[in-house]
Amino acid sequence: MTTGAMAGVMLDMRKFVAPEFVFGLGASRLAGQYCRNLGARRPLVVTMPDLMEHGWFRDILAGLDEHGLRHAVFHDVSENPRDHEVARGAEFYAAQGCDAILAVGGGSPMDCAKAIGIVHANGQDVLEFAGVDMVARPGPPLVCVPTTAGSSADVSQFAIINDTARRVKVAIVSKTVVADAALVDPAVTLTKDRELTVNTGLDALTHAVEAYVSNANGPVTDLFALEAVRLVGEHLVPAAQDGQNLDARAGMMLASMYAGLAFSNAILGAVHSMAHSLGGYSDLPHGMCNAILLDLVAAFNYDAAPERYRAVASALGRASGAEPGPGREGVLEVLRAFKRRLGVDKRLGELGVRREDLPRLAELALQDPCMVTNPRKPTREDIEALYAQAF
Ligand SMILES: [Fe+2]
Repeated sequence: MTTGAMAGVMLDMRKFVAPEFVFGLGASRLAGQYCRNLGARRPLVVTMPDLMEHGWFRDILAGLDEHGLRHAVFHDVSENPRDHEVARGAEFYAAQGCDAILAVGGGSPMDCAKAIGIVHANGQDVLEFAGVDMVARPGPPLVCVPTTAGSSADVSQFAIINDTARRVKVAIVSKTVVADAALVDPAVTLTKDRELTVNTGLDALTHAVEAYVSNANGPVTDLFALEAVRLVGEHLVPAAQDGQNLDARAGMMLASMYAGLAFSNAILGAVHSMAHSLGGYSDLPHGMCNAILLDLVAAFNYDAAPERYRAVASALGRASGAEPGPGREGVLEVLRAFKRRLGVDKRLGELGVRREDLPRLAELALQDPCMVTNPRKPTREDIEALYAQAF
C-alpha cells in the first residue's frame, strides 16, 4: 500500500541488499585475493565437473595457489542441486577442514555452495531453511564466480534446492546467503553453448520482468529491472547467434547482474513459483520452464499491472527491433516474438509432463514464496489452467 508520495517519488520503505561485486574482464582471476582477504586458508571450491577443463578455471585455481590457499574441490553437484548433494558437500567441507567457500559455476553450484555454508554453520538439514528468513546463522565467507548469464545467484539472497522426497524445488530466501563478493567476468561465459545461453538468458529476462511487476517493487529495483530487460533485448539474440561475441556476452552478463539485484530485493512471481514446482518434478532446465510460462503468466497478470507490462514490452521491443502494438495483445506479441527469434517453442507435453500431475504441480506452486509478490493472486484452478495452456 502506498503511504505517500512527493513529486512522483514513492516513499514506501524499501531496503536493498547487495554483495560487493567486481564486474569486468579478468574479475574471475581475483578469486584468490578475495578469499585471502576474507581470512580463508582452506577454501572449498564448489563447482561442476565440465567446468574444470577450461583454462579460466585453471587460472582461478592457480590464483588460489598464488595466495597460499590450499583448496579442496567438491563437484558432486547436479543441475537443479539436490538436498542430498548439499548434505554430502557439508560433510566434505567439515572433513576437509575448510574455512571458506568459493563457488564457480551457474546457479546450481552457487546455490549448492550457499546451502552447504548454512548447513555447516547451523547443523540443520537444508530443507529446514525453506522459506523467508529461516536461517539463524550465516555460513562461512562465500565468494562467487558466476559462469552463466542468468541465475544471478552470486548477487541474490536466494538459494533454490531440490527436495528430492517431495520432488519440488524449495526456495531459501535469506540475507545470510548473500555472497561476500561476486566476481562477475563475462569472459568465462564465452564457452557456453547456444542452448544454455538461451535458457539462462531467458531466466534473466524473467527475473527482470517479475521483479518489475512485483508487489514489492520500488524505485531502486525498477531501475535495475527495466535496464536488465533492455539489455536482454539488445544482447541475447546476438549472444545466442555467436557465442564468441564478447560484446554480447558482456551485455548479457550485465543484464543478468542487474536482473539479480532487482529480483533479490523485489522478489519474483508466478512464473518462478510455477517453474520451481515444474523443475523439481521434471528436472527440466530452470530457464526453459520460465521461458515456456513467461507470456502465459503475463497474459494472466496483465490487468493487475498494465502500465508495468507496457513498460517491459517497450524496453524489450525497442531494444530487439519490435515496437509493441496496443494493449495486452501488443505486450504479449513482443514476448512471443522474442521467444520465436530464440527458437523457444517447446510444449510441456513433449517434455514429458503429464496432465494428471497438474493439480499437484499447481498446489506446490501456490506454496512457493515467490507467489506472494505476484501482482495478481491466483487460485489453484488458475495455476492449473496456466500449466494446461503450456501443453
Ligand atoms: Fe530464475
